[in-house]
Parts: sequence; C-alpha cells; structure tokens
Amino acid sequence: MAKLIGGVTTSHIPAIGNAINDGLTQEHYWKRFFDGYGPVKQWLVEKQPDVLIVVYNDHGLNFFLDKVPTFAIGCADEYHNADEGWGLKPVAPFAGDAEFSWHLAESLIGQNFDMCTCQEMKVDHGFVNPLRVLFGDHERWPFKAIPLAVNTVQHPIPSARRCYNLGQGLGKAIASYPEDLKVVIVGTGGLSHQLQGERAGIIDVEYDLACIESVISNPDWLADQSNAEIIRKAGTEGVEVIMWLVMRGALNEKARVLHKHYHAPISNTGAGVLLLENC
Ligand code: DHB
Ligand code: FE
Repeated sequence: MAKLIGGVTTSHIPAIGNAINDGLTQEHYWKRFFDGYGPVKQWLVEKQPDVLIVVYNDHGLNFFLDKVPTFAIGCADEYHNADEGWGLKPVAPFAGDAEFSWHLAESLIGQNFDMCTCQEMKVDHGFVNPLRVLFGDHERWPFKAIPLAVNTVQHPIPSARRCYNLGQGLGKAIASYPEDLKVVIVGTGGLSHQLQGERAGIIDVEYDLACIESVISNPDWLADQSNAEIIRKAGTEGVEVIMWLVMRGALNEKARVLHKHYHAPISNTGAGVLLLENC
C-alpha cells in the first residue's frame, strides 16, 4: 500500500529561482534562508520518496481569472515549468503518475471534495521553486510529482478549515492506493506577505511563528480562522498559508516535528519551512 511518510511546508517565493540560477544561495542575503532547508534536504535523501504531492496555488498561469477551480489535481504523466516571472528558467520536466492521480481524484470526489481533474497542467513557481530548493536541479528528477492546486488568488477562496479537511481526505486517499509507494506531501505558500495595495510589504513575524506552531501541534487554531482574519494578519497573499493545513490534515495527528525554520524578510515574504514525519 502507499504510505505517507511525511510532510514538508515551505514558502515558494519567485526570487528563490533567480538566486539559484545566479549562484547566490550562499551570499549574505540568501544564506540563512537556504541553509534553513538543510535538515529537510537530508531527510529527503535518506527517505527517497517515490511520489511527492505538491499542494500549491497557481498564480494565474495555468488558470487565468476567467476560470479558477477551487481545487484542481494534475492527472498527467508530465508537467512543465511555465513560470515566466523574471524569465522562464530552464527546469527539467517533472514526471507525473497519472494512475495514482486518478486514484486520488476518485477517492477525493468520493469523499465529496469536488476536484477539477487536469490532464494537462502547466506549473509555476508555487510548484517548481520548492522542489528546486529541496532537491537541487536534476536533468531527471529523482521522484514523480503530482500537482494539487488550491485557489488562493480569486475570491471566494476555500476556508482554512476546508483545506484542513481536504488534507484529511487526501491522507485517506493515499492510504487506500494498493501500490507500494513512499509518498511525501509538500504544501507551499505563505507565510505573511502582501504584494499590492496600501498594506503591501506586510510581514507579521509573531503571526507567522504562531501559524508554524499551530500546524505542528494545534491545527484547529489556524483552521478556525476565517480568510478575512488570516488576510488581516498575514496580508492578501499571506492567505497562501492555508496550503500548510492541507499538508497537516494529510498526516496523522501524532506526526512529529523534525525541523522548523523561519527567516524574514526574503523578497516580500516571511519565509517558513517545516518538516513533519508521520508515525
Ligand atoms: C512573492 C511571494 C509569493 O508567494 C509570490 O507568489 C510572489 C512573490 C515575494 O515575496 O516576492
Ligand atoms: Fe505565491
């Protein structure tokens, strides 16, 4: 049977891609941020997951504002980076696992999560950058990946509670797949940031740290907040933190924290990373 061995959550800032391409990761501005991933990278090397389910928000690339699914899952055997922010980066295509994707879609829809199924899906920095940070660049990525997009761009967006519940459904869907696969769930986005409007530049360190602790040990604290409350604290784009709850919901309640790290600011964002291992 497929086994969910752990979960990672991380910010997915576009400038990370530039820093990697330009060889800046050990420069003063970036060093502490990139070094914060060390233990997670090591854990992934040790565990060698077969499949990563990457829960992120599309930023208007695959889904433009005319058609925005609340939850969408990739059901393809290959995904290409098409993020054009600061120029398209030469990133190898990601192998998918369409069969596993269809199982997840069927299970989730059976649990009353109305997924949009995508047999073609372009991926952006929300998907690509965390994988580049966590694995380094590869001509052939050493895992298969399944994108799962949550709308955080166009209102109405799903509630934090709904995202936590989606994670729980995903946990059940993974556990019911008969193939022996080691699976890791990655939730990307957040933490606090706002890119436009009067409150652009907003970073609330205290709130970000509280969100990290909530995802570790008390997910109800964050899941009980309305999106308006989250946006008031974390900014309009800070609401991406709801992706962290999808990751948490998929894991067992007793999952234990192996690593947490926070660094602010990076670009416009309070950047967090968290690794939980399933027990
Ligand atoms: C930034 C962060 C994001 O999550 C994003 O999608 C775009 C930009 C930033 O901090 O610059
Ligand atoms: Fe984003």
